[in-house]
Amino acid sequence: MTTTIDLAGRVAVVTGAGGGLGRSHALALAARGADVVVNDLGVARDGSEAGQRAADAVVVEIEAAGGRAVANRDSVADPVGARAIVAAAVERFGRLDIVVNNAGILRDATLHKLAVDDLDAVLAVHLRGTVLVSRAALPVMREQGYGRFVHTASAAGLFGNFGQSNYGAAKAGIAGFSRTLALEGAKHGITSNAIAPMAQTRMTEELLGPLAGRLDPELVSPLVVFLCSDTCELTGETFTAGGGRYARVVTGFGAGWLAEGKVTPDDIADHLADIREIDDLVVPASTTDEILGLAERLGISLPGDS
Ligand SMILES: NC(=O)c1ccc[n+]([C@@H]2O[C@H](COP(=O)([O-])OP(=O)(O)OC[C@H]3O[C@@H](n4cnc5c(N)ncnc54)[C@H](O)[C@@H]3O)[C@@H](O)[C@H]2O)c1
Repeated sequence: MTTTIDLAGRVAVVTGAGGGLGRSHALALAARGADVVVNDLGVARDGSEAGQRAADAVVVEIEAAGGRAVANRDSVADPVGARAIVAAAVERFGRLDIVVNNAGILRDATLHKLAVDDLDAVLAVHLRGTVLVSRAALPVMREQGYGRFVHTASAAGLFGNFGQSNYGAAKAGIAGFSRTLALEGAKHGITSNAIAPMAQTRMTEELLGPLAGRLDPELVSPLVVFLCSDTCELTGETFTAGGGRYARVVTGFGAGWLAEGKVTPDDIADHLADIREIDDLVVPASTTDEILGLAERLGISLPGDS
């Protein structure tokens, strides 16, 4: 069987799409027929100097390739801006099916040196921006009974990265938010997935060393387009993508140690090997799923169990 992903008639918002990964996602969505709102505040890497017109250039590129796009220069971190981004889609194209939350800035510092302004700015664009744009888009998608969200997490949030305490906190928050939106959107035909990309962009140009040449942003966008399509019914999942490798990332736990009766801190120390064992990984689909699993392990039947 050969799959052909077709986004004709679909309308997408890509935030931070004036360059780097967002530009690549916007071009890839348009190439499969989606109409695209190319959002970008046009800032420097650290979020300063707003006002560059990067989004306009991407619109020109999409139109030159025969697609339809509109530029938007609002900030994702502002609730009014987030609503304006969604309004741009509805006013210009009449609907909104796809949101790719991608806008981001960097203010790297170890926690030891982290300024409050740099914490707030990074949380505002990544975490608050992702939540605000999703919140603005949700009523439109619920009304349509259809929607596709892709949020941009990062290895820094999922696995940690030295010197990125603010960024890692924001990106881990995005991964958790995506899973919650997946649960809340399910009955409305709305999916929500997250990616942890690796690509050579202005954000990473000094970090990647010899890997840089292999990390074309265009290698991340096919996964994004798939997750944005009708073909994809996955939800609440997270994927790493970079250099042509695509893999699911999970949050799970092992079989663990089931204590009986009172437990002392010494018991924890004595059972550490079992507690840390992850050979039989369980990946719960939700908190409810985890609670049900625990109840079963404890031999407790919950209301509704037959
Ligand atoms: N490049 C990587 O390897 C990598 C790795 C992990 C995660 N990411 C994430 O991928 C996303 C894209 O990053 P990139 O590498 O393409 O960097 P980039 O700097 O090229 O792109 C980010 C874009 O977001 C825009 N932006 C910043 N603040 C905004 C705001 N408030 N509202 C709207 N737009 C705003 C910027 O103007 C910029 O064009 C980011 O969320 C980043 O954290 C990138």
